[in-house]
Amino acid sequence: MTTPAVPALPAAVLEAERRAVERSFAQSCCAPTGPLLAVLAASVRPGGRVLELGTGVGVGTAWIASGLVGREDVEVVTVELDEELADAVRATDLPVTVLTGDAVALLPGLGAFDLVFADALGGKWTGLDLTVAAVAPGGVLLVDDMDLGRYHSPEDRAAVTGVRETLLGHPALVSAELAVGTGHILSTRRPA
Ligand SMILES: C[S@@+](CC[C@H](N)C(=O)[O-])C[C@H]1O[C@@H](n2cnc3c(N)ncnc32)[C@H](O)[C@@H]1O
Repeated sequence: MTTPAVPALPAAVLEAERRAVERSFAQSCCAPTGPLLAVLAASVRPGGRVLELGTGVGVGTAWIASGLVGREDVEVVTVELDEELADAVRATDLPVTVLTGDAVALLPGLGAFDLVFADALGGKWTGLDLTVAAVAPGGVLLVDDMDLGRYHSPEDRAAVTGVRETLLGHPALVSAELAVGTGHILSTRRPA
């Protein structure tokens, strides 16, 4: 029996991983978050919108873009607080809009999205209500780093417990916990 071939990493993901090495940036998403993002992005409706909170060096952004090859109809917006990181991703040929600023401050002006990847403290540990409000009816929200075992200080554990309880108990969301990688909660907003 032959072993099935593992698909090669998308070139844009490899480029982003090189930016991470150059900057000693260790916060990029990793498997299985990246491929999951590509799958979720590929399922976004025609003319839909995708939002990433926390661009980093663009690894997650590149995975999202890899699910949207040939889908110029889908808008991708990514928000990064750190100007240098935002500029580095803006300088790539990823077909995304990179906004520099605090996600919590920007969220109220961004509108609704069919897929939201919340991967920054802003919009997750703080301002989670704004992130949930930015998910369109029928849209999907992916939140990573939800494994409580990763956190040791009482403050961090309390913050993550709050995020978990909000997402898993939110009346407008249907949520599932995916206990893989850093721990994920995947939610969809009930149709209005
Ligand atoms: C975990 S990293 C993002 C990794 C990226 N999403 C990926 O998948 O590779 C979190 C990023 O969020 C940024 N960040 C932190 N607080 C933020 C805020 N309030 N608004 C926007 N970005 C923020 C950090 O500078 C950092 O680059």
